[in-house]
Amino acid sequence: MSKKRIFSGVQPSAIPTIGNYIGAMKNFVALQDEYDCTYCIVNQHAITVPQDPKKLKEQTRSLAALYLAIGLDPEKSTIFVQSEVPAHAQAAWIVQCNVGVGELERMTQYKDKSQKQQSVSAGLLTYPPLMVADIVLYNAEVVPVGEDQKQHMELTRDFVERFNSRYGNGNKLLVMPEPFIPKAGARVMSLQTPTKKMSKSDANVKEYISMLDEPAVIRKKIKSAVTDSSGVIEFDPAEKPGVSNLLTIFSAFSGESIESLVARFKGVGYGQFKEELADAIIAVMEPIQERYYELLKSDKLDEILDEGAMKANYVANKTLRKMEKAVGLVR
Ligand code: AQP
Repeated sequence: MSKKRIFSGVQPSAIPTIGNYIGAMKNFVALQDEYDCTYCIVNQHAITVPQDPKKLKEQTRSLAALYLAIGLDPEKSTIFVQSEVPAHAQAAWIVQCNVGVGELERMTQYKDKSQKQQSVSAGLLTYPPLMVADIVLYNAEVVPVGEDQKQHMELTRDFVERFNSRYGNGNKLLVMPEPFIPKAGARVMSLQTPTKKMSKSDANVKEYISMLDEPAVIRKKIKSAVTDSSGVIEFDPAEKPGVSNLLTIFSAFSGESIESLVARFKGVGYGQFKEELADAIIAVMEPIQERYYELLKSDKLDEILDEGAMKANYVANKTLRKMEKAVGLVR
């Protein structure tokens, strides 16, 4: 039986955080043996909010190197940059013409992100149709994402159903995808404001741990993470959001269950708990960082991305033609 197909991506809007890693990227690696995987660096999504062009270019390469450093294998997974596959923008136009402005205005990520902008781009509103295009072009059946992408995934599913019923004449032209959201770590919260999610483009660097933060910086940021005055290590996101978030991170990095961590740190102060948490993060991130810096120096990265774009263009163009034919965009 052929393997199920997976598609997912990360925006090179900044260096990914440990939230991006736990919520999405770690699963990319775990799934690549069992599934036929396509992983994209979604740089066209990144420009929906202002970006420094030079930094965007650097961050695109950095994200590619991080994909490989965490263990993605180009022999098993297709790894490519979104803007190198024009079918994404072309298919996104067809998607935009088949979703309502009202549907897009209801997206909570649009509401959150538009509030933070002085001037809101049309692209920020039409970000979800581009994401729909990303997914359907590769006939993806499974999409590993964090919880913040759940609503965009629902829109994707609604679009697929609508497109198939409008244009399919009884055939399922596009494949219906399912989100794959991890049971734990799907929503890692900010270290300073544990009621909001950790985001890589947050202005305050103390809110997040970047995947390239040096060990001393990781330790410092964990030390200054907000907790509470009770001094008790318990998992209760409503009453103790700070400590609960640290427990989630600890569990994701160490593999130890939250229950076991709570039992082990009973009667132990926040200071020691934070020391050991920092150790657990550093133990995973340090070898990833070493591989990352090696990869950035080599020519391997460009070869892998060129090859990935070639493979991705082939698959994406086939689906795009099918979509264009279905809606009548042919002579
Ligand atoms: N805090 C989080 N916890 C768990 N998963 C998360 N993801 C994002 N933040 C968390 C997941 O990471 C993947 C890649 O995210 P993205 O780059 O597509 O954009 P995003 O969701 O908007 O992530 P950020 O970090 O908040 O980026 P910026 O600051 O650029 O907007 C997705 O699967 C996402 O669910």
